[in-house]
Amino acid sequence: MQIKNFLTLEDASKDELKEVLDLARTYAAGHTVPALAGRTVCLAFFEASTRTAVSFELAARRAGADVISLSEKGSAIQKGESLIDTVVTLDALGADAVVIRHPSAGAARLAARHANAAIVNAGDGCGQHPTQALLDLHALSTSLGDFDELAGRKVAVVGDVLHSRVARSVIPAFCAAGMEVSLVAPNTLLPREAGAWELPILPSVDDALDWGAEVLYTLRLQKERMTSRSPRVPSVAEYSRYYGVAKRHLKPGVLVMHPGPVNRGVEISGDVVLSDSSLVSDQVASGIAVRSAVLALAVGATEKLAA
Ligand code: NCD
Repeated sequence: MQIKNFLTLEDASKDELKEVLDLARTYAAGHTVPALAGRTVCLAFFEASTRTAVSFELAARRAGADVISLSEKGSAIQKGESLIDTVVTLDALGADAVVIRHPSAGAARLAARHANAAIVNAGDGCGQHPTQALLDLHALSTSLGDFDELAGRKVAVVGDVLHSRVARSVIPAFCAAGMEVSLVAPNTLLPREAGAWELPILPSVDDALDWGAEVLYTLRLQKERMTSRSPRVPSVAEYSRYYGVAKRHLKPGVLVMHPGPVNRGVEISGDVVLSDSSLVSDQVASGIAVRSAVLALAVGATEKLAA
């Protein structure tokens, strides 16, 4: 992982993941050193977001940064300004880090080629969502007690893998942490490259539990990325029967995760979200400490933490 630009977790090593999570732990423990004091973080969100946008803003503020927010509505992008020109402008205005969410895969990487500021990918189309995967590892390892507890555990990634940038980040992250990963999805919701991942593909949540899954990592059915001519699932009710996590799947020792936002009753039932087996709130809460750590690493401000 390139520390300056957090673009992807595809090639992240266990040590790199551990470095971010160790630093996140100091923030989670209430570390108050303003590592980002005097730095400017720009949040450039060109696609809808609740938890990612809010937690990046809180993360940057808690680490002492000046924060400015930009969205498509109200910015010169509405007048036709390109992403590259936007990033170059933010650079000229003195941004130290630009956090980008964009509907096109590759947008963050493109921005990084043209910016001096550190670029942090907050989700690019069906590309990557590295900070989501990092906060997932933080929430899961905290629940299990330690990062090294992840190794050897079995996690089933369930649902709409095809459209999920979260899946494309969390799968390599789980693998790098030493976890055994399986996929639970119909063929129509698996990307063509899934075959090359060499992971077991299972036909239902029940099969995942038979396989020995200790974590069910559920994904949102991304209807907004499907078209009426290519709905990908013939019936949502039928999809839920095989790929939805319901109360009957809750077993001692099995944890359930979801990056949010949740389609209750589709990929996960409401009572599962609220159950003791659910890490959904822990995932959201982990976002602040993890994103403070990511921003501090991205702008090279970690020396202040060591002081
Ligand atoms: C995800 C995203 O936007 O990629 N949500 C998030 O950032 N927590 C997942 C999703 O939209 O389903």
